[in-house]
Amino acid sequence: MVLGFWDLAVPVVGAPMAGGPGTPELAAAVSNAGGLGFVAGGYLSPERFAEDITAARAATTGPIGANLFVPQPSVADYLQLEHYAEALDEVAEHYDVEVGMPRFGDNDGWTRKLEVVADLRPEVVSFTFGAPSPDVLRWLGSLGIVLLITVTSAYEAGVAIAAGADGLVVQGPGAGGHRGTFAPDMRPGTESLGELLDRIAATHDVPLIAAGGLGTPEDVAGVLNRGAVAAQVGTALLLADEAGTNSVHRSALRNPQFSNTVVTRAFSGRYARGLENDFTRLLDDVAPLGYPEVNHMTAPIRAAAVARDDPHGTNLWAGTGYRSACPGPAADIVKKLGGA
Ligand SMILES: Cc1cc2nc3c(=O)[nH]c(=O)nc-3n(C[C@H](O)[C@H](O)[C@H](O)COP(=O)(O)O)c2cc1C
Repeated sequence: MVLGFWDLAVPVVGAPMAGGPGTPELAAAVSNAGGLGFVAGGYLSPERFAEDITAARAATTGPIGANLFVPQPSVADYLQLEHYAEALDEVAEHYDVEVGMPRFGDNDGWTRKLEVVADLRPEVVSFTFGAPSPDVLRWLGSLGIVLLITVTSAYEAGVAIAAGADGLVVQGPGAGGHRGTFAPDMRPGTESLGELLDRIAATHDVPLIAAGGLGTPEDVAGVLNRGAVAAQVGTALLLADEAGTNSVHRSALRNPQFSNTVVTRAFSGRYARGLENDFTRLLDDVAPLGYPEVNHMTAPIRAAAVARDDPHGTNLWAGTGYRSACPGPAADIVKKLGGA
């Protein structure tokens, strides 16, 4: 591990944000501001992932991170998926689309994306939804890449360190988007971010990056005072000029009618935090666990809702600090959060 790496001029990491909000421009802008920007690899083809890393790299002289979804065994129960398809039917009808097929998928192109990072060697690679095997981490580590694993509990921290992570992204319950949970029961931890940081730091001597609900300079200073080397922020960057956040999502984040966030499985079959809307109110109770099957089932509805500018049929990922998110250049947001 490159020890000096943690001395970022601004101790702020721009979270990887798959599904649109994360762009190479955003990653480069965060790094140019003295933080560390991330290219999100999730959902992209390996070719597009390589292009995005190359584009981010070309737009900054600072470090670049890349992020991957770790393949996970399916926990889907097909009877439950069938029931959920029935519940989704009337929503799909409302949007003039069909419920998607509950495919298990191709592991999000895991093997080829590993080759992409081995080839392009971003300074840092972070993983979410699991801990890669020690072999994979040894291989990428031997290429000089700093390796981080996202954890949501002390148990997951132990697994990640045993696998060979150089550092951890400690994701607390206020985080926007998907929780990185990979413990067998898939239930995200409820311990506060501060408690989690303290507990993990008491047992493991690795750099910790704190994430989840950090929306103000005071929030960032709070986790640094608790020993984190940096704060990773996602929601705070959703309104940034360089973010690819769609217009439905951008307006909902600033619309006082959306006054609450909830942790829901309804969109993807994995727990994720977003603004409460008609979709979560109607379907959260009946939605089963089962990623990526449920994600594929809801995809046509989500796409149709975005096309119609309707915030009630799509996921509006947001952490608990969403009220502090401001539009403007990412550099201003990052410098302000980092107290620079
Ligand atoms: C829109 C959105 C997309 C996200 N996508 C990813 C991702 O692709 N990979 C990942 O590791 N984390 C992802 N996250 C989680 C972030 O890494 C981070 O944990 C979270 O944003 C921190 O909480 P905050 O949103 O309150 O700042 C995403 C978060 C958001 C809001």
